Amino acid sequence: MPATVVIGAQWGDEGKGKITDMLAAESDVVARYGGGDNAGHTVVVGGDTFKLHLVPSGILYSHVVCVLGGGMVVNPRRLLEEMDGLAARGVDVSATRLLLSVQAHLILPYHIALDGAAERSRGESALGTTKRGIGPAYADKAARSGIRAGEMRDPAAFAQLVHAAVVAKNELLTRVYGQEPLPAEEIAREYREYAVRLAPYLADTSSFLAEALYAGKRLLCEGAQGTLLDLDHGTYPYVTSSYPTVGGALIGLGLGPQHLSRILGVTKAYQTRVGAGPFPTELHDTAGDHLVEVGHEYGTTTGRRRRTGWLDAVALRYAVQVNGLSELALTKLDVLTGLDPLRIAVAYECDGETLTRFPADAATLARRRPVYEEMPGWKQDIGAARAFEELPPAAQNYVTRIEELVGVPATLISVGPEREQTIRRSM
Ligand code: GDP
Ligand code: IMO
Ligand code: MG
Repeated sequence: MPATVVIGAQWGDEGKGKITDMLAAESDVVARYGGGDNAGHTVVVGGDTFKLHLVPSGILYSHVVCVLGGGMVVNPRRLLEEMDGLAARGVDVSATRLLLSVQAHLILPYHIALDGAAERSRGESALGTTKRGIGPAYADKAARSGIRAGEMRDPAAFAQLVHAAVVAKNELLTRVYGQEPLPAEEIAREYREYAVRLAPYLADTSSFLAEALYAGKRLLCEGAQGTLLDLDHGTYPYVTSSYPTVGGALIGLGLGPQHLSRILGVTKAYQTRVGAGPFPTELHDTAGDHLVEVGHEYGTTTGRRRRTGWLDAVALRYAVQVNGLSELALTKLDVLTGLDPLRIAVAYECDGETLTRFPADAATLARRRPVYEEMPGWKQDIGAARAFEELPPAAQNYVTRIEELVGVPATLISVGPEREQTIRRSM
């Protein structure tokens, strides 16, 4: 049975959680393939808000099995907190419903300390990371000095590994960054307990997924972060350390490409970014404030005010290109209500030249200025629209223009945070 991939088409926070939750209704397995608790995915159901960081956004449907894939970096403490929070709200997070790949790398306290220390040492050019230890954990993975989740199968041996790793990293923390050493004994004891609790969840998830697909089950792959934060294809160095693009789904889950039938890019109807880095369409005026306030653009993970701007169709076309997106889910269209005129960046300008390619490095992108096309806005509340024809003509035109600019259809249009506030279109 074919698999669907949900991918962030911008700089993250596009509404992947909402779209994944919605599509989970018709899926059997929902799998996260990359990133860690730097992600914050919001699902709103009947007025109840769930903020998920590690647990896949399919968890609210009892028929769905959720997988934390091998491409992820998992902080065991945060995972258990999240599982306990969900259990307290009546969500079943038993080992029959949640699987943790033995290949996922673990985030330990020294990764978080090193993330903070590296950011401080960058000074003015700090990346604005979420300080969850993501970069240092992926760095250890690449350096082949990480600790994988599979080690938790033997809690006593795992505690020894953790102890040795903390002692080794304390050298770096104290000698290079002048920080206090971390308490190795205490951390080893604490993580031994986490291992005891998480051991039943460990699985060879690549084989589990292959078997599920060959048995005809429907797989939904939930991306985290976004295309422009991809380590290779994003606005380097202002990126995360994983691969949110489609290749990351294959590697992060151990899947073959023949399984992927639907590659759905999630994009807001405007642009946001949290953290540092160039952002050609960024607004510093009342339209930008409107997007922040009406769109509640504050980070799900860190609470930081998100930077906002007009939709960047050059960047979106790039996301279509590097992921082979087959369609778009256009979210937060309702947030544009009341803004008139609307703008979309259709090209960039640099040194008198008009350019239509997106440059995937920060220094080049910083020199690009947006070339805008203006469109009329609308005033009506669109939160109750459930069919494309129920949208005001100006909103329909806005969506159609985006489709023309990027060359793929918007098959889902989201007009509010609730699960039901979605227009589904068959194209
Ligand atoms: P993710 O990281 O891609 O899952 O996105 P986040 O959850 O971090 O941020 C998206 C925010 O927008 C969340 O607060 C959602 O509840 C909210 N949201 C999603 N879709 C819509 C929509 O169509 N309209 C409005 N107003 N809010 C939405
Ligand atoms: P979701 O899945 C938005 C950003 C950080 C920072 C950069 C590097 O909710 O869309 P990191 O901690 O990963 O080393 O930070 O990446 N970032 C996100 N921005 N949404 C996310 O996840 C993000 N995950 C990381 O703000 O700019
Ligand atoms: Mg988010």
